[in-house]
Amino acid sequence: MCGIIGYCGHRPAVPIVLEGLEHLEYRGYDSAGVGYVLNSELQVVRAKGKLKNLSEKFQQERNALTVTCAIGHTRWATHGVPEERNAHPHLSNSKRLAIVHNGIIENYLEIREELLQKSYRFASDTDSEVLVNLIEDRLAEEHDLLHALSAALQLAHGAYAICLLDRDDPNKLYAARLSAPLIFGRGIGENFIASDIPAFLAYTRDVIFLEDGDILVADSQNYTLWRSSDLNEIQRPAQQIQWNMQAAQKGGYRHFMLKEIFEQPKVISDALSGRLDDGRVLLPELDALPVPKRLHIIACGTSFHAGLWGQHLIEDWARIPVQVEIASEFRYKERLLLDPEQDMVLVISQSGETADTLAALRMAKELHVPTLGLCNVLGSSMAREAGAVLYTQAGPEISVASTKAMTSQMIMLACLALYYGRRSLTLADDDIRRHLERLQRLPLMLETALPEMHSMARQLARKYAQAKSFFYLGRGHCFSLALEGALKLKELSYIHAEGYAAGEMKHGPIALIDPSFPTFVLAPRDDLYEKIKSNIVEIQSRQGQIIVLTNAESDLHSVDIWRIPALQGPLTAFLLLPCLQLFSYEMADYLGKDVDQPRNLAKSVTVE
Ligand code: F6R
Repeated sequence: MCGIIGYCGHRPAVPIVLEGLEHLEYRGYDSAGVGYVLNSELQVVRAKGKLKNLSEKFQQERNALTVTCAIGHTRWATHGVPEERNAHPHLSNSKRLAIVHNGIIENYLEIREELLQKSYRFASDTDSEVLVNLIEDRLAEEHDLLHALSAALQLAHGAYAICLLDRDDPNKLYAARLSAPLIFGRGIGENFIASDIPAFLAYTRDVIFLEDGDILVADSQNYTLWRSSDLNEIQRPAQQIQWNMQAAQKGGYRHFMLKEIFEQPKVISDALSGRLDDGRVLLPELDALPVPKRLHIIACGTSFHAGLWGQHLIEDWARIPVQVEIASEFRYKERLLLDPEQDMVLVISQSGETADTLAALRMAKELHVPTLGLCNVLGSSMAREAGAVLYTQAGPEISVASTKAMTSQMIMLACLALYYGRRSLTLADDDIRRHLERLQRLPLMLETALPEMHSMARQLARKYAQAKSFFYLGRGHCFSLALEGALKLKELSYIHAEGYAAGEMKHGPIALIDPSFPTFVLAPRDDLYEKIKSNIVEIQSRQGQIIVLTNAESDLHSVDIWRIPALQGPLTAFLLLPCLQLFSYEMADYLGKDVDQPRNLAKSVTVE
């Protein structure tokens, strides 16, 4: 949710920390701050609002350029309103320690109470300020900061990724993680700590993913990893990141979101790469596991919609019954009806760090049910904890609204359906070949179609930008896309939108239709086309305006037809989805909204 960075090296640290924060701003952008030691005193510079407000403050802080060790934070508010006093870094009472923190300390109120009784005072409403004072309090009992940190972390419950600076040892970073991502970047004569790799990728590709319960202490030359509970030293080899900085930049596009939408043809090729061989899908990660009798797909938001779409293919092609559930609901079920012999749990997450999805994964593991993770981020918690992992290979997704990640998840779900279809003999080899041939045609088809899709999206956005509400309708596999279309529109343009199964309209929602309430209908030419045409006519009879996204030679009148290239079967979704994304993008851009960083959101929801 929040982004944290720490730098210790030979260069001016503040510009590096500010640059790193720019790459982390997608994680939260309510306020930001930087901390460093200057003239033996801890300094914090913080600003409410976006990062540029903080950078402007540094115009007056020329002395800050001399320091070579600093920490920084960009915030998505959990405890306390987005004001400067709640921005990080937070100082301990004696001003010896400064902390940046991502996550939630669940028992912070009890700890705060105890510290108040010991005369500690708090300038903010945050749990983070409580944590830094708890560490300071432990310093009185323990002989050094490492032991004090370890002792404090035994008392703090919840989730955290933290980075600490010590006024009395100003060229050292202390970091720790529990259920929130934190990555160590190992440079030459310089070291980094950050919530995500793009924060330091311009300087090093050598990384160590911190694991739950790790403490890391680093200066510019050396680092040591410790197990927080007993301070035993840990050896863990570094890994090399394969993608480069270009993948995390806008590359000439106006926004990351637009770039990521246009990357989708390549994302499809990359997800398929190495997966197809002689009319078969290769998923060696799953070969040792039995074909499940029932599959439970658990995810949040856009990843949940990908799961709903995958349900159709897995049920249809592999004939495995699939239940798709929102992680925040699944995790609080009183009784989980899971059978380790029959069931498999598939968790889907772009970030691999979504708190609810991880909790669902852990519950399934406790019941000894086989688990499979579908995720994008290498080394994420999901990737480490799931029994087997399929990486979606979408590359870094920077825009807060997810686009290419969903496409990559859907490709892997299609592969899964074909893979299980073959193993359980529910698909003939010829059927598999036919589907594979269509999958392989997708990148070129989509690449050719995207410019035309973009210009249609732009035209329609100008016509519909004044709408206050929108329906998105679909049937069959298009219902999940209708939900996704509505989610994209609301999160980007702040226009109210609802996705519905088209057949449900007449059971209530149609009461809302009038000339000012438009409907976006997904109507590919398939077995359900005639049914959805009837729904369109019903809306027309109530004077509702309609956009029809279709690949059929339509005989519909008085609607805005948006025609896409013809492709048979559910893989048409790979041409429908980019239209929905582009429409929301253009609506939001036309209305002057912050496309890449919509209000109130953050990319990776690492808290409940
Ligand atoms: C919407 C969006 C969110 C995420 C959701 C799950 O555009 O991005 O709905 O899909 O927060 O995130 P992951 O996939 O990282 O678990």
